[in-house]
Amino acid sequence: MTRVLSGIQPTGQPQLGNYLGALRSWIALQDSADAFYCVVDLHALTVPGDAAELRSATMTMATLLLAAGLDPDRCTLFVQSHVPAHTQVAWLLECTASFGEMRRMTQWKDKSAKGGEEAARLGLLAYPALMAADIVLYDADRVPVGDDQRQHLELTRTLAERFNHRYGQTFKVPDALIPARGQGGRVMDLQEPTRKMSKSSDSPQGTVFLFDDPKDIERKIKRAVTDADDGPDAVRYDPAAKPGVSNLLDILATITGRTPDQVAAGYTRYGPLKADTASAVVELLAPIQARYRELASDPASVAKVLRAGAERANEVAAATAARAEAAIGLLPPG
Ligand code: AMP
Ligand code: TRP
Repeated sequence: MTRVLSGIQPTGQPQLGNYLGALRSWIALQDSADAFYCVVDLHALTVPGDAAELRSATMTMATLLLAAGLDPDRCTLFVQSHVPAHTQVAWLLECTASFGEMRRMTQWKDKSAKGGEEAARLGLLAYPALMAADIVLYDADRVPVGDDQRQHLELTRTLAERFNHRYGQTFKVPDALIPARGQGGRVMDLQEPTRKMSKSSDSPQGTVFLFDDPKDIERKIKRAVTDADDGPDAVRYDPAAKPGVSNLLDILATITGRTPDQVAAGYTRYGPLKADTASAVVELLAPIQARYRELASDPASVAKVLRAGAERANEVAAATAARAEAAIGLLPPG
């Protein structure tokens, strides 16, 4: 059976791009694959944050994943830091990666540019090695992620292949599983449609958060930036020339299981497209929010799911870590 693994950071407010780009695939894959999903709390330490907030955000994210449709009977849901093999194997992969290739990663360049390289955490530079460890520990065949993770997945493949080449066949080399164009792999900011929608965005009006109420969702989508085109084919899918309109088409197409071109054929004006997109998003999120409220009232049962998930994840990950340590020449303990 195909093995899949993916992770999501507990920092920031989960947003529509997380759902359409990643979580939707996670939910679907539970039926066809042996699926491992984790809340990657260690990744959150790469940028400044508050300890109590991290703790509660980790619980919130795990609860939300269950509310969105992850079923502990059909997947293994766990918290990354509950499985020590992640940090163990991250070190082996940090000693497989080179400083030059880590420094060239887009995310490092973007994030370290903000506060300057001097102040950026070393963990931020090393982060892709930890992500690679998350993946190879489970012998994952496929990794369902949004388009922005493409480069990290390529690096994971490179590191797994290099390790295998140096020390003998140890890790499975995984493939990314990214939604096709126009199917939610890259949801853009509603106010700045050339920039991806993001949890940590300083553009709350351009971001639909999964916890937004219907009024806010409608307002944000109705005010989404489009363009001044009012010709007969103003509503068409053309991400380069019409990024705002194409983003709405992408969102509505993904939710309704059509292509953006099929959706576009039903509209001549932006108003009705926005109204239908807003209703589709509200209908998508309302039941998730309702289930979230129920589950959040019983944190003990979420904690139980996470305990069982960590136990199962540990069994798989500890075996891979032992294999990797032996391959690289670490003396087995007695
Ligand atoms: P993160 O919020 O960075 O932990 O991302 C969790 C998952 O959501 C990853 O697979 C990302 O690729 C995906 N994701 C985040 N933002 C977007 C977006 N705007 N469009 C599509 N996928 C996204
Ligand atoms: N780096 C991913 C992100 O920011 C999150 C992540 C961490 C991940 N480890 C992973 C995704 C392993 C897939 C597989 O979105």
